[in-house]
Amino acid sequence: MPDELPHGPIGVFDSGYGGLTVLRDLRRALPDADFLYLGDNARAPYGTRSFELVYEFTLQAVRYLFSRGCPLVILACNTASAKALRSIQQNDLPLLAPSRRVLGVIRPTVEALSDYTRTGAVGLFGTPGTVASGSYDMEIAKLHPDMRLYAHACPMWVPLVEYRESDGDGADYFVRRDIEALTAMSPDIDTVILGCTHYPLLIDKIRKYMPEGISVVTQGEIVAHSLTDYLRRHTDIEAAITRHGTTEYLTTENAAKFADMACVFMGAPVSAKRIELV
Ligand code: DGL
Repeated sequence: MPDELPHGPIGVFDSGYGGLTVLRDLRRALPDADFLYLGDNARAPYGTRSFELVYEFTLQAVRYLFSRGCPLVILACNTASAKALRSIQQNDLPLLAPSRRVLGVIRPTVEALSDYTRTGAVGLFGTPGTVASGSYDMEIAKLHPDMRLYAHACPMWVPLVEYRESDGDGADYFVRRDIEALTAMSPDIDTVILGCTHYPLLIDKIRKYMPEGISVVTQGEIVAHSLTDYLRRHTDIEAAITRHGTTEYLTTENAAKFADMACVFMGAPVSAKRIELV
């Protein structure tokens, strides 16, 4: 791949539907920009997969989005950000496309935490992969050494969303159970990060069972704010983003099924195309 910064859309990648919760806010923040969304629904969830596989799948997605001319790719997935981002930034990008950029969602989320917590006791819901990676712990230790993190993995929440069961009784059972498990870790927790971009799709259930007085942090607005700030500071990338206000949706699963879910979520008709990642 030549080392030239192409002009093209912002690539947004997630294992499935979750990244739509970030895309929605990115589009609000950058209404003129073009976006290319890719959900690897055929291979979701990533949260229970090994480091090697999440890295391999994420790299395939980044390469694909680069081949479609994206100057910048956002990994709108905590699991991919936790398990693949650093290797891609440090090892792959310099060989593959040194002028392009790949950004994740964990650092901006941690940067924003001081706007939320007063007690410094912060809860985290994430996939088993994100929690086991210790990525949030490391970022918090660097940026807010005075904060304490209480992390709890929710292996059932992504399947509930991917199988479109987020409004069902099964969701009530698991959301309630996991909230009780996390809040039992410390009475001081006053802020809970939804550290998986799928989780805002369960927000009604989460609000129903979250004790009063605990702030729930979702990542869409935080990532959108952080990206606009990044583009202000990186004018070469900013100038490389094409601006016709379009969004294209790609999935590795059935396109009609994806479009159905995406249009409910994006609040407008969506058409999607199926692609294969190799
Ligand atoms: N949205 C992804 C995340 O933020 C979901 C991971 C999964 O596929 O399990 O972690």
